[in-house]
Amino acid sequence: MGHPIPGPRSLPFIGNTFEFRKNPPGYMNEVHNEYGDMAVIRAGWRKLILVFHPDQIREILVEKHKSFRKSRGLRLLGLLLGEGLLTLEGDAHRKHRKLIQPAFQKRRIDAYGVYIRKACNDVSAKWTDGQQIDVHRWMMYLALTIASRSLFNADVEDDAPEVGEALDRAMQDFNRVVSNPLGPLLVRLPTVAGRRFRSARKQLDRIVYGIIEERRKDNRDHGDFLSILFSKDENGMGLSPKQIRDEAMTIFLAGHETTANALSWSIYLLSRNPAFAERLRNELRAAPATIEPDTELPLTTALFSEAMRLYPPVWAFGRESIEPVEVGGHLLPRGTTFLLSPYVTHRDPRFWDAPNEFRPDRWLEDAAGQPRFRYFPFGGGPRICIGEPFAWMEGRMVLAQMLRMWDFQVDGATVRPKALVTLRPEGGIPARLVRL
Ligand code: HEM
Repeated sequence: MGHPIPGPRSLPFIGNTFEFRKNPPGYMNEVHNEYGDMAVIRAGWRKLILVFHPDQIREILVEKHKSFRKSRGLRLLGLLLGEGLLTLEGDAHRKHRKLIQPAFQKRRIDAYGVYIRKACNDVSAKWTDGQQIDVHRWMMYLALTIASRSLFNADVEDDAPEVGEALDRAMQDFNRVVSNPLGPLLVRLPTVAGRRFRSARKQLDRIVYGIIEERRKDNRDHGDFLSILFSKDENGMGLSPKQIRDEAMTIFLAGHETTANALSWSIYLLSRNPAFAERLRNELRAAPATIEPDTELPLTTALFSEAMRLYPPVWAFGRESIEPVEVGGHLLPRGTTFLLSPYVTHRDPRFWDAPNEFRPDRWLEDAAGQPRFRYFPFGGGPRICIGEPFAWMEGRMVLAQMLRMWDFQVDGATVRPKALVTLRPEGGIPARLVRL
């Protein structure tokens, strides 16, 4: 229908894989600038439709969501996560989402505030004035502590280095696996990448099964996420051990990696903007001694929002059409893959003034008339992130607590994003701690 979707020239078989792999978000940005709101690129043998305009993003995630399932990249995450909320489809997804949703209701999430305050104090107690740290590593540690204490009622801090290392290894080859037609096979074969991935999965399994077994012995209802996984419906039916493992692994990983990245980028951006940092510290000085989930902190919230605009932890995600579907006026066949990128859309000058600049004050202005999907760090529609309210509360509370106690003096060099499954700071964020 209409004119064909434009896109860059590509090599036979290889497609645009090399340009894409070098710097995926940067390449998508270039394609957007050159070819407009919908563009075709080729990753190996597969055609990908890049969709950049908020209206078409809404079409895919909300209005026509029934015509789509998760894309191959997300399905491949299932090799690690199994069949949990992130990867399930259809009725099974609806059923699990309904079961798990109560663990993320506002009342319950507010109760997690206590764990957040305690985890921040515990981490602070380990730090000394003048110490050199990698902010990213510590935010991973902090977010893992918070997620495991509040959702699993478990202390896994001692395992944090192992979790971090296993995640690094599991994610290292992900982009290669996704862009390889034999991807899923690659991780089953005795290749370097295959071995690395399997040993990482085994390590994470050991930790997650450990948490599950602990709880099974205990048998009390803790009213948390893990208790919900163990619950039975009116017919006495519950999840199987494999389903419990998959849901637990999904929340265990999705619940800390993303938030840790958003926190790291927030601290990095703040260190680069001393004038805003001064205003933020004034806000924190005026805030009550105990930060509660609903303490008003407009500048802290603006910092977290702006960090997720510039460095959205989930920088791109995809969908595959399960029937012919019209998007942006183009009729596309069943089996078409669409890639949406918060990173690119969040920097579109049509929807953002000075899009590449850190301007947290934009979040204090009236956004009436702007399209909803110019900003979608948590996705949208029925598959919107279940942990979004938790992430907002955690982000605001952690930043408020930590920035009140510490100044993070980040070393001079610019930190670049590295796009794996999530957008991580390449080489970490080296900083010197100054106690306030
Ligand atoms: C800043 C932090 C976070 C970001 C940026 C983020 C981002 C996202 C995005 C973009 C999606 C949608 C993916 C898609 O539509 O294909 C998603 C889904 C999901 N997220 Fe998050 N997330 C964050 C924190 C969390 C937390 C704290 C949890 C759990 C404790 C969590 C659990 C999940 C789950 C289970 C899904 C799948 C939901 C479904 O399909 O029904 N996330 N997240």
